[in-house]
Amino acid sequence: MFKRKNSTPYNWVKALRISYPLILVNFKTYTESQGKRAVALAKSAEKVAHEYGICISVAPQLVDIRAVVGSAEIPVFSQHLDPEMPGPHTGYISPESIKEAGASGTILNHSEHRLRTATLAEAVRRCRSVGLLTCVCSKTAHAGKVLSSLNPDMVAVEPPELIGSGISVSKAKPEVIRDSVRMIKGANPKIHILCGAGVTTGEDVATALKLGAEGILVASGVIKATDPESVLRDFAAQAIHI
Ligand code: G3P
Repeated sequence: MFKRKNSTPYNWVKALRISYPLILVNFKTYTESQGKRAVALAKSAEKVAHEYGICISVAPQLVDIRAVVGSAEIPVFSQHLDPEMPGPHTGYISPESIKEAGASGTILNHSEHRLRTATLAEAVRRCRSVGLLTCVCSKTAHAGKVLSSLNPDMVAVEPPELIGSGISVSKAKPEVIRDSVRMIKGANPKIHILCGAGVTTGEDVATALKLGAEGILVASGVIKATDPESVLRDFAAQAIHI
């Protein structure tokens, strides 16, 4: 049983609360992470989170949120939502519905689902009003600084060209992490900074944390792995020693 250095035993009451460092696994629309497989992945994440005493959160597809929330005691995020108010709006995803499904927060403005700034600002505001955490994605450190003015809970900086590449931002562009920490924390010290793109090993995670990130956003490195649970263990084992 691994425990974080100088930490109290992992407390399940807090299991649904976000803590840092955070490993946020974006299930995207991979078939390997939908339906029953989304639930299985969430249970693996819960097991690793409990053993290592580290916060692992998952972002399943919309239709899987309720099943994942009901099967694993870890924070669950949606991959996106819309700022529309409850009422006569068709085909949108309201913050109220995500909250009622049991999610703790949402990713917004991911490279693969960009939002106009005005829409993003309204979405962050609406999330705050219903009690959802927000992880706003940006392509660069500078964009992250600009978006920090929307006062999200987290900014995740991901160079799009590295997404899905298996070449981690930690190795290929450490300056992006360093600059993001400096610029975003300088603009809004309350914001937690994650980084992502190409993260596949515990060493990638450790390097990101040493550069000042407070967590990672990851997808294919876990979802497409032959043994996702062992990848999460590698991430967690490295992260708890930083
Ligand atoms: O949301 C995280 C994602 O964009 C990173 O993708 O596959 O490089 O971990 P991946």
